[in-house]
Amino acid sequence: MTELLAPEAAPAPRQARIRNYVMCRPDHFEVSYSINPWMDPGKPTDRALAVAQWESLRTLFVELGHYVQTIDAAPGLPDMVFAANGALVVDGKVLVSRFRHPERRAEAGLWAEWFREQGYTDVVRAAFTSEGEGDYVTTGRAVLAGNGFRSDPRSQAEAEALFGRPVVGLRLVDPRFYHLDTALAALDDDEVVYYPGAFDAESLEVLEGLFPDAVLADEEDALVFGLNLVSDGCNVILPEPAAGLAARLRAHGFRTHHVDLSELLKAGGSVKCCTLEIRH
Ligand code: ARG
Repeated sequence: MTELLAPEAAPAPRQARIRNYVMCRPDHFEVSYSINPWMDPGKPTDRALAVAQWESLRTLFVELGHYVQTIDAAPGLPDMVFAANGALVVDGKVLVSRFRHPERRAEAGLWAEWFREQGYTDVVRAAFTSEGEGDYVTTGRAVLAGNGFRSDPRSQAEAEALFGRPVVGLRLVDPRFYHLDTALAALDDDEVVYYPGAFDAESLEVLEGLFPDAVLADEEDALVFGLNLVSDGCNVILPEPAAGLAARLRAHGFRTHHVDLSELLKAGGSVKCCTLEIRH
């Protein structure tokens, strides 16, 4: 008698959703000050290479079928390439950031202007420090809000009032992972991946409760900014050296794509930092 073998557990097929992204070409990129442990103004940067690496990310998004708009880079604002920090946009409503460091504060006005020019009418300037999608990760269950280094916990109430969605605060404790998007990413509406070492005990409990099936990343993944990824629900774009994390994500059914953003990492940013998602 032949025995029926259970089919090998195959990962569930993944569905990509077309996204709208805004990016800012690093035309004025340099590391001229230090506001996170990755930035060393004494180390040389290559702007042409930064632009080429950034272009490869933009091209990949377009090849995957996504829409990419751009905002003009401004002289004197070398970190403006990190578009994720400009705002948080949910249901077409825009919470324009208020930056913690004076070096970046002038970016906020440019973002507010950009959204108004695009025809957005619900454009609110944050009253408390709030660094956009750097610290806010939108999931179907809640908007997750990182604090501890950059965004002020009081900005959570502002976000909650504007978007009418629950906002859940998470405390970051490792200065190398100073924005939430360096330690946690949404893979799909209800799936996340995170590096537990970046959070305090209470926040870990919250994460375990909300996402019991989350993919966990290790320190090695986090140190190469592997968590600073962008996912469309099927395709995951992550920095080149994050091979271990990529393999784990493939085992979960995702398609992984690597980009080399080594120049931008010198300022403490990678794939997600360069990408602001507009949720209509
Ligand atoms: N140099 C920038 C800063 O420290 C990097 C921002 C990275 N952006 C991000 N979404 N994590 O503000």
